Amino acid sequence: ARHFALIPAAGVGARMGGQIPKQYLPLAGQPMLLHALQRFAAHARIAHTFVVVSAEDGWIDALMTPALRQRVSILRVGGPTRQDSVFNGLNALREQLADADWVLVHDAARPGVDAALIDRLLDALAQDEVGGLLALPVVDTLKRGDGASSPRSQQTVPRAGLWAAQTPQMFPYALLHRALRQAQEQGRLGEITDDASAIEMLGLRPRLVEGSPRNLKVTLAQDAALAEFFLKGPHP
Ligand code: CTP
Ligand code: MG
Repeated sequence: ARHFALIPAAGVGARMGGQIPKQYLPLAGQPMLLHALQRFAAHARIAHTFVVVSAEDGWIDALMTPALRQRVSILRVGGPTRQDSVFNGLNALREQLADADWVLVHDAARPGVDAALIDRLLDALAQDEVGGLLALPVVDTLKRGDGASSPRSQQTVPRAGLWAAQTPQMFPYALLHRALRQAQEQGRLGEITDDASAIEMLGLRPRLVEGSPRNLKVTLAQDAALAEFFLKGPHP
């Protein structure tokens, strides 16, 4: 089966602040989205890359060099949440993808993905029937707050066995499409924040493949400095 990348890039970056959506903010010399886009477009094992942007997006066209246009297509079908954007993107690909084709969903807000991480995911899932995701074992001591405005810790949550999810998350096209459709029909699309959650709702168990701290998500303004540090450093 072939491998395709699907990059949701239709968010507004509310937590980041700023005048333009965070995926278009300059980071280590180029718009954030371009980092991940170039990695997937340049990867020999990725057949083609699709980027989901909002219908009103006025930035993406300026990013698309002639070389990128050979390897990347733009889907102007972004929705109100990340999962809507992914689901709409999958809907738009119904004619182009086969059921067994793999889809690697990757956040535009994770500029630190690289060829080695993509290879690690592909290799780990080559014989898999469900799929899986990059993730990192949790290192922090975790507290459950009591929900008060000035919260107190109720208890410590054992971190053994806990992982922090990253992207890419890779599943067979038909399986992911079905999982998201089912989540939508059950009105649960809004409660999930990644693709693996929808697969879990089907009772399946996505494989956890070790990611990298380099592959952090840029959520808050301060995350950009750390992302730049990694992007400017030596590359694996
Ligand atoms: N995303 C999307 N469509 C949405 C919301 C998010 O395609 N309606 C994309 C973002 O562009 C990003 C990825 O999903 O690449 C992860 O989402 P997140 O980090 O939450 O980005 P934003 O939603 O833009 O940020 P915020 O939640 O702070 O507004
Ligand atoms: Mg968001």
